[in-house]
Amino acid sequence: MGHLVTLGEHILNNQKRVGHSTGELSHLLSCIRLAAKVVNSEINKAGLVDEIMGQYGKTNVQGEAQQKLDVYANRKFIDAFEAYSQVCGVASEEEDSFVAFESDECMQGKYVLLIDPLDGSSNIDVNVSIGTIFSIYKRKSLRGTKANLDDFLQRGTEIVAAGYIVYGSSTMMVLSVGNGVHGFTFDPSVGVFFLSHEDIRIPKSGKIYSVNEGNYPFFSDGIKEYLKYCKEHDKETGRPLTSRYIGSLVSDFHRNMIKGGIYLYPETTLAPQGKLRLLYECKPIAFLAEQAGGKATDGENRILEIEPKALHQRTPLIVGSSDMVDKLHSFL
Ligand code: AHG
Ligand code: MN
Ligand code: MN
Repeated sequence: MGHLVTLGEHILNNQKRVGHSTGELSHLLSCIRLAAKVVNSEINKAGLVDEIMGQYGKTNVQGEAQQKLDVYANRKFIDAFEAYSQVCGVASEEEDSFVAFESDECMQGKYVLLIDPLDGSSNIDVNVSIGTIFSIYKRKSLRGTKANLDDFLQRGTEIVAAGYIVYGSSTMMVLSVGNGVHGFTFDPSVGVFFLSHEDIRIPKSGKIYSVNEGNYPFFSDGIKEYLKYCKEHDKETGRPLTSRYIGSLVSDFHRNMIKGGIYLYPETTLAPQGKLRLLYECKPIAFLAEQAGGKATDGENRILEIEPKALHQRTPLIVGSSDMVDKLHSFL
């Protein structure tokens, strides 16, 4: 039997390769791995434990209904980072503002973490795949001080590492520290993530398009024309394409990255900035897409180059196979 590489080993090997010699990034990733296991085991119980199910009865800063598991996952990740003193601060989709840790150990931290603790939360109650999205940046402020807003409002080109966990038919962590994208599948019988998808590459083109087409009347003419194109019958170019939409960005993106496809959440007349959050969702997904050979834009600009102005900023997102993103652009 060949040697199975665990996520822990991969992180250590990688540390040497990308020259993060202090090991801080490795510890940080280990911390994410640990919190992911805890959240995973809770998610697997979601159908069993009445307390976890259903609405928490509160709305988050963006006015969306918050599910109990959102709150749980948010707490688990933030507590783990504070306890392990690996970052000086965390910005989460579920918090009104960023959290700056105040212990001396934390304030010495070199990195900040941005997180969507539970993505696709409307799917929790119906046993459909959900996820966690994270990204890590070097802080701008001085070590030894409290993290400030500028530490979090950096361009995606500054990302040091990003990834997601998808709690699906199996649980996977997909990660990039800037040298390709690697996937690790969780083996619950031993509680370990094993390297299962080395160097994932998004096919240059694919058959799948993913969009909430219920928003059709509110899309721009360019997007409408593109969607008509996706559905046209044309043998030569293999159309119509196949429509697949889960409603969990992590899962929709993961499938398209493996199989080839395009995901779009464009602006609408009702939501001129789109729905997805630039910092917690779009930038990490864009980083992974590019690391896997794909593209990610807001219809005009590369997502990674957008200058963030606010923590909870939204942006339109077009992401996936590079030829498909280019094709869509030709309609705009
Ligand atoms: P979250 O659960 O973190 O709020 O994110 C939900 C997002 C994203 O995961 C998904 O792709 C999108 O919202 C779905 O939106 P629609 O229901 O409008 O299609
Ligand atoms: Mn989300
Ligand atoms: Mn969320």
